Amino acid sequence: MEKLTGLNRVKTAVFISGTGSNLKNLIKFSKLKKSPISINLIISNTNKARGLHYVDLFHIKKKILNFKNIKVTEKKLLTLLMKNKVELICLAGFMKILSKDFIKRFNGKIINIHPSLLPKYKGLNTHNRAIQNRDKFSGCTVHYVTEKLDSGKIIMQRKVKITKKDTPTTLAKKILKQEHRLYPEAILKIFN
Ligand code: GRF
Repeated sequence: MEKLTGLNRVKTAVFISGTGSNLKNLIKFSKLKKSPISINLIISNTNKARGLHYVDLFHIKKKILNFKNIKVTEKKLLTLLMKNKVELICLAGFMKILSKDFIKRFNGKIINIHPSLLPKYKGLNTHNRAIQNRDKFSGCTVHYVTEKLDSGKIIMQRKVKITKKDTPTTLAKKILKQEHRLYPEAILKIFN
């Protein structure tokens, strides 16, 4: 793959599994004049992902791929990404783990948003763990994806205060709001 450049809009694929609020936010961002990316393809591992609704709304190409056989699926995925000349992959609530080989193939071109201040709380249940540990702050992180889960180089983070009243649900809400600011900011940082 060619090196990313800021000259033309970078053709981007967003991978989702669920609600898709980050997807919706990235689509809106991609339509701004200042956006370095265009969103050309949406990948979901399930047809139950509510975020797919935005894809239809904004008339973006989508593909639902069943990741049961990861080798076969990733082969199809690679063909699709090449065909659409995708140069950047944004994971946004994507619940499948991509293989080492796939990540290598797109080295430095896959980014993810994670709902904690990495390196704290890799994996799932981040809000619960932050509250259980009586942390004063949590937040969100945009990072490069490497073969080690939630461990790639950090691009940007935003902090959120945890109050005594916070539950995992209220904290998730507060952090999600910040995620919607952070993901576009991190993309701008990469390409500026
Ligand atoms: C976000 O909290 C994101 O950080 C995590 O999964 C959630 C996805 O939310 N990886 P949405 O589907 O974008 O609304």
